[in-house]
Amino acid sequence: VKIVLRKAKPHRIDIHGKGFLVNIVDILDKKRRGQSHTETEIKFLVESLMAGSTKDYQVSAWLMAACLQGLNLDETTWLTKAFVDSGNTLNLSQIGGFVVDKHSTGGVGDNTSLVLVPLLAASGLKVSKLSGRGLGFTGGTIDKLEAIPGFKTTLKKESFLKQLQTIGAAISAQTSDLTPADGRFYALRDVTATVDSIPLIAASVVSKKIAVGAHIVVLDIKTGRGAFTKSIEEAHLLARMCREIGEKFGKTFYTVISSMEQPLGYAVGHSLEVEETIRTLEGRGPKDLEELCLTIGALALKGADRTSSMEEGKAELKELLHNGKALAMFRKLIVAQGGDPEVLESYKEMLPQPNRISMLPSPTKGYVLDIDPMIISKVVKESGGGRVCKEDPINLGVGVLLHKKIGDPVEKGETVVELYADDDHYRDAMDMLQTAFTYSETPVTAMPKLIHEIYPDF
Ligand code: URA
Repeated sequence: VKIVLRKAKPHRIDIHGKGFLVNIVDILDKKRRGQSHTETEIKFLVESLMAGSTKDYQVSAWLMAACLQGLNLDETTWLTKAFVDSGNTLNLSQIGGFVVDKHSTGGVGDNTSLVLVPLLAASGLKVSKLSGRGLGFTGGTIDKLEAIPGFKTTLKKESFLKQLQTIGAAISAQTSDLTPADGRFYALRDVTATVDSIPLIAASVVSKKIAVGAHIVVLDIKTGRGAFTKSIEEAHLLARMCREIGEKFGKTFYTVISSMEQPLGYAVGHSLEVEETIRTLEGRGPKDLEELCLTIGALALKGADRTSSMEEGKAELKELLHNGKALAMFRKLIVAQGGDPEVLESYKEMLPQPNRISMLPSPTKGYVLDIDPMIISKVVKESGGGRVCKEDPINLGVGVLLHKKIGDPVEKGETVVELYADDDHYRDAMDMLQTAFTYSETPVTAMPKLIHEIYPDF
């Protein structure tokens, strides 16, 4: 169906081509009542926002209605398509080589993308990636990269392709020519409590992946308290939906479902996660972060037919973490995107830092029974590390550095966590931070499982 955008009344559409005009308010009303949209309505919603005739506040209302009433698979596919069509898609045919992409649905302390982009590129695959900023309680890859002095996070189509060809990796935020509509919806979702909707997440994630056109995509679907899909059932649903929509666009999506029952690794916060990324690329990273990166990376290598088993892929990637090649690729990526590579040696001096670092001691001798990722995330956001309005600047230096993870033994008075927060926030943040930890006198036996599912089961 062709949309008729009447010049005189651009906020109305002629849905059936019979002169019956529907305006944006009717569309909002329809979703509020729980009715399904047509493709034309979804297209109109997205196109009219981009054209300026529909306003942010109207899309915000639609997002809330969609969050509460849901979107079916067709509506989600159309939304994905409208996001893709709002910009260009990359034609990677002249790039050569096998191009992969990786995306996470968002977690706490989740810097897997920062590690995997250079790691996979060091393995000889091409890595083409569009990422987002912080969303809801989760941090965003793009904000994290901006902690690196000079690093340019919006690449135009031509520069993106050129970089992919020359160094084998490129990473960018949504731009005016790559899924700009997802960028607009994404920023609104972040500040309107409309993030944790399976169809909205699927459309947002898949559209970015279709736009950059990799041969295969590996999705890390997070589950647990620190994820948008809290239950394993929801995570399965999201994984399936992304794969199905991907298939409709002719793309293969592989999925890993991984745990977000405690923060991933030890660092939460932009500068701290960049620092942890550097250590991981030097082969000195936290065990859980390394294991997850190796698993996702091995799935990409297997999907690209580069290895005969997951184990072989993991071993190859581990070698790249330990022989300096993954770190060397990160250096190339930083230089290519205008960043200062000296950050790799002098991260404490070069990454933004707060004016205070405070230690939280354990109140007891025993074992760490639980670390609530939602409280950790709230501490970082409330210390200035997240947005409340979409224009808000964020403080890239604030964060939380765990010294202990679930199951670790602790002595009374021993530091369990460091808080990186400025003077004006640290007291409240410290009070909140204490509540994230619970302790047990006896060893902890029920440890969260890191990886729940790998699809396909190679
Ligand atoms: N990542 C995205 O790109 N979009 C979402 O909605 C969630 C995670």
